Amino acid sequence: MRYAHIVGWGKSVPEKVVTNDDLAKTIETSDKWIRDMTGIGQRHVANDRETTAALSTNAAIEALDMASVTAAQLDLIIVATITPDFMFPSTAALVQDALGADNAGAYDLSAACAGFLYGLAQAADSIRAGTISTALVIGAERLSSIVDWKDRNTCVLFGDGAGAVVLKASPQPGGVLSTLLRADGSGGPALYLRQKDNEVLHMNGREVFRFATRVIDRSAREVMRRAGWTAEEVDVFVPHQANLRIIEAASKSLAIPMDKFFVNIESYGNTSAASIPIALCEAAACGRLKPNDRVVMVGFGGGLTWAAAAVQWQVTAKPQTRGQRVLSRVGYGAAAVRSRARRIFRRIEDGLMNGNGKPTSRK
Ligand code: ACO
Repeated sequence: MRYAHIVGWGKSVPEKVVTNDDLAKTIETSDKWIRDMTGIGQRHVANDRETTAALSTNAAIEALDMASVTAAQLDLIIVATITPDFMFPSTAALVQDALGADNAGAYDLSAACAGFLYGLAQAADSIRAGTISTALVIGAERLSSIVDWKDRNTCVLFGDGAGAVVLKASPQPGGVLSTLLRADGSGGPALYLRQKDNEVLHMNGREVFRFATRVIDRSAREVMRRAGWTAEEVDVFVPHQANLRIIEAASKSLAIPMDKFFVNIESYGNTSAASIPIALCEAAACGRLKPNDRVVMVGFGGGLTWAAAAVQWQVTAKPQTRGQRVLSRVGYGAAAVRSRARRIFRRIEDGLMNGNGKPTSRK
């Protein structure tokens, strides 16, 4: 039997923090309304250099370092995002290049706030099937670039950031034990972004709220059943951080006390695909996740999509030594040099093929 274990995790958030009070200076809102209605206190907002690919790469490096896995060992990179820097190339391909992960396939997937768990499920299934051995799954968003900062109904909710996990094959029972992926495209109009210049996110908050409270309960119960766990046996629930009231409603309907739910929405807002991996990182960092803990994660969002996973948190991460960290940085530096050399080589080759020494203009 092969199992797919989470062996490393990392996160990256933009430096700039925008508090509720900051927002109240530009739109008609208040810290009290936002906290009471959502649980959000602040969010991180990216600058031009903090692209989706850059945030993803930083989170990935932290996760790889922790797992003591080199980029060359990766077989697959999945980036879940609804805010890629380009339609193509994929964010995953940009991350592959930045890491120098020369043996990995790479693709993005779009399942909004359920995206990270869709990626986790696909990577874990490929590992368990024996197709691959090591995968990097990232959830990353730059939602600040698609919200209307004058619309108080939406702009107060979202934030930017990225979280990543490294998954590895192991004969030791545990890891990702069960997953569930679902979609209901008839609910698409509840939350969408049209593919047009300057378009912003549209949301029917009430409809999304009702949908979320329904599916968290059902999908959490289903992955627990598939893993052979009862709700009482679960140590930590890591839900998508969209609204504290949604999490409280889930706690009530599942009859699980709130102290079993990991909540960090106060600091980050809703970071869509990044919210669950960022929460996982923080839960692990503060000691809420310990070896052998049973973890249930549930994500839901635009599509409509939703997903859940039951994971036995088996591995204690070993902190890297200074020497290992320096070595890994040298490796990523070399990857950047290699990437640049390949680009130059392609230009020269292109010029030679056309006999004029200049690159071809492609229309
Ligand atoms: N500050 C002050 N007042 C506000 C604000 C604000 N930021 N936003 C809305 N209001 C007002 C409204 O104008 C309205 O006023 P009115 O009664 O005078 O018309 C009142 O507050 C109530 O607004 P509603 O939208 O009806 O409030 P609701 O109880 O639905 O809460 C909220 C809104 C917080 C957005 C909630 O619906 C929600 O969290 N929905 C879920 C959103 C979500 O989880 N999205 C996740 C998916 S994201 C993804 O996939 C990318």
